[in-house]
Amino acid sequence: MKTLLPTCLLCLHAAALWGTEPPDTNYDESKVPQYTLPALQTGSRQHWEKTRRPEILQLLETAVYGRTPGDRLNVATEVTQGPTEVPELRAIRRQLTLSVGLTDRPQQVMQWNVLIYSPLQATGKVPAFLGLNFEGNQTVANDPEIHRSPAGGGAAGKQAARWQVPMLMDHGFALVTAHRDNIDPDNYRNDFSDGPHPLFYESGQTQPGETEWGSIGGWAWALSRMADSLQDDQLIDGRRLAVIGHSRLGKTALWAGAQDSRFRVVISNNSGCGGAALYRRCYGERLHHMLKPVGYWFCRNHATFAEREHEMPVDQHMLLATIAPRAVYVASATEDGWADPKGEFLSLRHAAPAWELYGLDSLPVVDQPEAARPVSSSHLGYHLRQGKHDVTAWDWEQYLRFADPHLTSRR
Ligand code: GCU
Repeated sequence: MKTLLPTCLLCLHAAALWGTEPPDTNYDESKVPQYTLPALQTGSRQHWEKTRRPEILQLLETAVYGRTPGDRLNVATEVTQGPTEVPELRAIRRQLTLSVGLTDRPQQVMQWNVLIYSPLQATGKVPAFLGLNFEGNQTVANDPEIHRSPAGGGAAGKQAARWQVPMLMDHGFALVTAHRDNIDPDNYRNDFSDGPHPLFYESGQTQPGETEWGSIGGWAWALSRMADSLQDDQLIDGRRLAVIGHSRLGKTALWAGAQDSRFRVVISNNSGCGGAALYRRCYGERLHHMLKPVGYWFCRNHATFAEREHEMPVDQHMLLATIAPRAVYVASATEDGWADPKGEFLSLRHAAPAWELYGLDSLPVVDQPEAARPVSSSHLGYHLRQGKHDVTAWDWEQYLRFADPHLTSRR
């Protein structure tokens, strides 16, 4: 008989999308198929930078996330509140509306709300973490003055534990966040009639093309626009930015970091399939599991690799490699089999040759470390947290320690 409710912890995460576990999900390491990853082919540093890295980015566009349209952008900010001191959070709060349009189509503009906390004690401009939130800006901290995000249904302060605003402030970092649904609605009825996609449609176009961006592309693009808006900020140094995301927003953080070198540190928290995990391991969530509920996260061409992961021209170690020589941290959780923790680790390990090209050390281990034993070199970090699919204070402690040297130097 088919179980209606997930019976194991591994399945809980899957159940969020499926209601029940896809029957062909594999959690047995001995059933992981033999696979060969596409070679990074780093070659010389010059070859990597001029030829191979751009080629990999293009492959990721056509096979996974879709192409993000280019420049011609106007980004304007309007402060809707603040700066206001919030002593309970040791922070200064500002709230902005970001308006983005194309220079040659001034009548079409999209807008979303951005919440910024910067440390109350700062004496100069500070580095910042940028990340999108799941349930609305009002959920990010225990602060009743946060404007409720349109479409963000979460209760005020509900996800404060995931964002750890006071901890960030104490370490001297700002937090810049926006609600994913305020940028591109995250539901299976998403027909790309709102969000950033229509801004770029050619006349008569109603959908992104086969290899054009889906929602992850749109969210990643928005993170870059948020970075644009910080370039002349009074409190934040727009050249010292980290991008972070959890789960689907971890996939998004990686794709944003791959495309935008202003993100000096890129952090993937439990990003799983379509994020840090290797597609070819076919462990936990697989490409074809995503198609019905969330195919719109990716480009349409992604679907052609359903149950044919071995034919993809890329795997996710290549996504991570495109971030070199900047810093990248991948985090997994023991009860998050759906996201394939081992596949997330291996992806980082197989990406390491891209950092070696710059004379930077690989990870100090070959095998996935045990739970609660973070491992890092100067530019690569990994941990397996004890527990479920989530972001915790312990995760943030590792991220802040790892990111600190990259974000404090004013280079
Ligand atoms: C689902 C989905 C994952 C995704 C996660 C999330 O579980 O299958 O790919 O990472 O939702 O974003 O919460």
